[in-house]
Amino acid sequence: HERKRKEGVNLLELAGSYYRERLKMPEGEGARRYLAARGLSPEVQQAFAIGYAPAGWEALKGHLAERGISEAVQIEYGLLVHREESGRTYDRFRDRVMFPIRDIRGRTIAFGGRVLGDAKPKYLNSPETPVFHKGRELYGLFEARQANSRLERLVIVEGYMDVVALAQFGIRNAVATLGTSTSEEHLGRLFRMVGEVVFCFDGDQAGRQAAARALQAVLPQMIDGRQARFMFLPEGEDPDSLVRREGSGAFADRITCASPLSEFLFDHAAEGRDLATIESRERFASQVLSAIGKLPEGVLKSLLLTELSRRTGVAQSRFEALVAPGDVPEA
Ligand code: UTP
Ligand code: MN
Ligand code: MN
Ligand code: MN
Ligand code: MN
Repeated sequence: HERKRKEGVNLLELAGSYYRERLKMPEGEGARRYLAARGLSPEVQQAFAIGYAPAGWEALKGHLAERGISEAVQIEYGLLVHREESGRTYDRFRDRVMFPIRDIRGRTIAFGGRVLGDAKPKYLNSPETPVFHKGRELYGLFEARQANSRLERLVIVEGYMDVVALAQFGIRNAVATLGTSTSEEHLGRLFRMVGEVVFCFDGDQAGRQAAARALQAVLPQMIDGRQARFMFLPEGEDPDSLVRREGSGAFADRITCASPLSEFLFDHAAEGRDLATIESRERFASQVLSAIGKLPEGVLKSLLLTELSRRTGVAQSRFEALVAPGDVPEA
């Protein structure tokens, strides 16, 4: 198992350097122009080891074959696609800007590739492989720790470009989930490294839905002493577009002003409810109570019950009788 893992990681490193080489070659010109048009400096491209997968069907495959790497391994690690019907194999990533996804130790474990134009899919990610599990990995975590080994806070954004653009603007603590929603597993890993996470999704319907799902995922992780906050961007903006428009100072201020979990929890439950009728207050209180029930036992849980009682005029002891008992956190 371990030998195989090494073989896979070696293969992914080889592919990463191949993509970086191609970006410098004449065939990489379109990609270089694309990256320049997106405003990515040579320094940040290098820090994130960005490359280019050429347009051919068998470019990487040929390169790796010359180095004695079997097709079977290339398929297993997601670089080569095998067509059942024809029995043929071809490069998964073609004519795309390549973002290597690195594990915490800096080893390349997967790739994300973006088209240069408007073709679909916009981003193609490596499939699940023996070394890559989407629900667990975060893009930019290695780079964030490289920039600062004593991180206290991480900002969770949606996309590759958001992480890279923020880094270029001096905000070097952003990470992105990889086309999946933020999982409890992601958050458990992050909270083992930092005391605070700030969610910063796109200013659109999908981004707001992602924030609501992130709230549900983070609740069980809220051991006393940990902090989670939520940032909402203006409609139509994502962190990449906004930091370029407003600059890093303004973006950093937005991070500082992000809503604490408690505020988002109550605001979100109150959304679209006038709270003038008993029935709407019941739905509000039930939603808040169900969220509180996901928290581990602790001071935060007690304080939120007190606040719910204050907001509804119902005695706290009534809510305490209704709320689910949480896990008792380990020391
Ligand atoms: P967005 O659609 O917000 O893209 O998807 P983006 O990151 O802002 O990309 P640019 O600025 O147009 O280049 C957010 C993230 O969702 C995943 C990617 O991880 C992307 O960064 N995604 C999106 C995919 O995996 N596949 C897709 O086709 C689109
Ligand atoms: Mn595994
Ligand atoms: Mn979006
Ligand atoms: Mn974007
Ligand atoms: Mn976006």
